[in-house]
Amino acid sequence: MVRETWATRAGFILAAVGSAVGLGNIWRFPFITGQEGGAAFLLVYLGFVALIGFPAILVEFVIGRYTKLNPVGAIRELGSGAWKYVGWLFVVTGFVILSYYSVVAGWFLRYTLIGITDGYALAGPGEAEALFGGVATGLDSLLFHAVFMALVIGIIAAGVRQGIEVGVKLMVPAIIALLLGLAAYGSTLDASSAAYGYYLSPDFGVIAANWQSILPAAAGQAFFTLSLGMGVMITYASYLGEDRNLASDAGVIVTLDTLIAVIVGFVVFPFLFAAGLDPGAGGAGEIFVSLTSAFAEISGGRILGIVFFGMVGIAALSSAISILEVLVSYLIDELDVARVPAAAAVGVAIFLLGVPVTVDLIFLDLFDKLADGVLLVLGSLLLALFVGWVVPDVAREELSKGISGLGGLGDAWIWVVRIPIVIVVLVSLYLGVVDYAGFLTGDFADWLAAR
Ligand code: TRP
Repeated sequence: MVRETWATRAGFILAAVGSAVGLGNIWRFPFITGQEGGAAFLLVYLGFVALIGFPAILVEFVIGRYTKLNPVGAIRELGSGAWKYVGWLFVVTGFVILSYYSVVAGWFLRYTLIGITDGYALAGPGEAEALFGGVATGLDSLLFHAVFMALVIGIIAAGVRQGIEVGVKLMVPAIIALLLGLAAYGSTLDASSAAYGYYLSPDFGVIAANWQSILPAAAGQAFFTLSLGMGVMITYASYLGEDRNLASDAGVIVTLDTLIAVIVGFVVFPFLFAAGLDPGAGGAGEIFVSLTSAFAEISGGRILGIVFFGMVGIAALSSAISILEVLVSYLIDELDVARVPAAAAVGVAIFLLGVPVTVDLIFLDLFDKLADGVLLVLGSLLLALFVGWVVPDVAREELSKGISGLGGLGDAWIWVVRIPIVIVVLVSLYLGVVDYAGFLTGDFADWLAAR
């Protein structure tokens, strides 16, 4: 079978940006930043993106473009022995992430609809929180989870790559424009200077005192937001021609993705401070509560809100597609299953796994902490070890295609992947596992005991 390749030169970048930009930037980034202390977290996160995220995205690109296979097949072809099984980790990770990702994406669809039917004119933050409580769990949540998964399955079953490319081309600039507009409005609020202080002036004492939680949170967020650690970027690069400059493509993707997350902070924190809400306490509802209180006040807020929530829904769709595509391309390549049944079977299984999240948000923590703190970090660690120590020559050679005069930078990259990345990611993984064990024996055990 001839493998499809990207229809246009920009197709690959658009799809990769479409995968990277999603709930990770808009929903997850602001509440994790709030939980981890604001500016202190932002600083560590930005450092991680530049020093670890960028080299790590290249790791996935070279594997994908060299082997032209799905991630499971790619690692099996290049590696031997136990490396064969690494692909399985990706499959498990994909299942876990997409199950709750779809539920959260469903909330954005629900908020779009709320804007259309009722508007966001709520009297105050108390109501905004109550509204979120009603949307997050229960029958509505289940229904919108089902709608979102059905969309993802439909797109993957049809294999409509063009659709994705066009969608991303419109959506990414529109989201940036809207966010900038909201950030500008936020800057006019009295609370904005306090919010900027919180977001932008790091207190190194906070980092020193909390590095054990900031480090794994920053690593997990960096991998999650860049779609790293489960083979998405391997899959996308597998459809790529030799002439692309992987490093500059990676630069565009990382920059855009990070820019969007950082702007979201300039939107969310002024509104939270203005409403007198604690940025550390919002959790999964942070973006919804802060923005609905904002849309209720701004003139034209209803339209803005509909457009904003709807667009985040589309952004989430282009990310979710990338996850299901990994799982489906595996079934197609390895087990010779046809595309439509593969998409349907995997999609329905993922839907079922997500159902508990619509019942109680403790399952959101159970899945999100596992995926982010453990699975993605482990996946990235194994990929770094693989490229850095098992196939460095192949990787260096592959990176140099399409780049004139890479010279010593290729070696520098291999060394960054070999040692600093491995050490930092290993430490983050250890801390993430400890944190997850603490959650299981703490909050989760308490929740179970209360049943
Ligand atoms: N990066 C996406 C976001 O920020 C989510 C995502 C898509 C993802 N594919 C992934 C996360 C693969 C981890 C692994 O919303």
